Amino acid sequence: MSVVEIPDGAGNHLRLVEFNGKLYPNFPIESITNMKSLKLREDDVIISAYSKSGTHWLFEICRMLLAGRLDVEVISKLNLMIELVAQDVLDQIESPRVLNSHVAFSDLPTDLAVKKPKIIYIRRNPKDVAVSFYNHSYKLKEFYDYNGEFKDYLELFVNGKVDYNSWFDKVLDWEKVIDNNTEYSILDLTYEDLKADPIAEIRKISDFLQVKRNEEFIKEICDACSFSKMQQRKGHIMADGSGQSNIYRKGEVGDWKNWFTVAQNEWFDRIYSEKMAGSKLKFRYSFDEDEK
Ligand code: A3P
Repeated sequence: MSVVEIPDGAGNHLRLVEFNGKLYPNFPIESITNMKSLKLREDDVIISAYSKSGTHWLFEICRMLLAGRLDVEVISKLNLMIELVAQDVLDQIESPRVLNSHVAFSDLPTDLAVKKPKIIYIRRNPKDVAVSFYNHSYKLKEFYDYNGEFKDYLELFVNGKVDYNSWFDKVLDWEKVIDNNTEYSILDLTYEDLKADPIAEIRKISDFLQVKRNEEFIKEICDACSFSKMQQRKGHIMADGSGQSNIYRKGEVGDWKNWFTVAQNEWFDRIYSEKMAGSKLKFRYSFDEDEK
């Protein structure tokens, strides 16, 4: 386990941590090495996602649904992140806990197979993920120390040389887990569906969590967890020096069009077709269905 400096094509470096051949954010070494042995509870809910796919949003929705109220404590999801939290800290959190993680299914705690907590998986189209992840890595200087341009970051992203490695491998792996799963209770969501029809999706989550929440409350959660309300309430957590939020950046579907050149887009589409051949997954890249 060591801190590594991943070079991009222009000679800028992304500072990460390597453990068992995989790349992680620059988290304390002991939390990454301990994640596999974390003890869970049966009534935990685990949100799983590749980075920048809507984890914070879902974290807040789930906490409100479980609590049955909107005024849940303002806390960072980092406090309940499997690859970051220590067992003694986790043990002090009241049930039901909403944990979250970006690691592969096979890297989640072994106790998962015993306690079988509910899992909510969310995925997002890779072009918007790449843009969001670039901004995240570029702005969190004390963490990543990255000064590269989007075009160079995009190559790292496509080649899996970023924290949590390849988006393609992760979503393909989760696709298999969900398709072949008979023993776990997993809800499969997309960022784009949550954005297009939050009320329907929050209702789905509520049913999955088996909490009986009425339509009025679902609407209230939808409003309290809108991008602007969350930015207001939680934007100060992980803000940069000027107070700008690093997490609540734009919250849109299709921002990638402001970043990808035509050539980059064609290149990305070619790589996507190669890597995702055989996958049944579909992603929405824009709400204009004629566009990709
Ligand atoms: P952008 O950088 O595209 O704005 P994660 O929580 O997995 O780190 O994902 C972060 C992304 O989700 C960011 O995307 C962020 O703006 C977006 N996001 C966070 N809260 C949101 C909300 N309430 N509604 C829509 N998008 C949200």
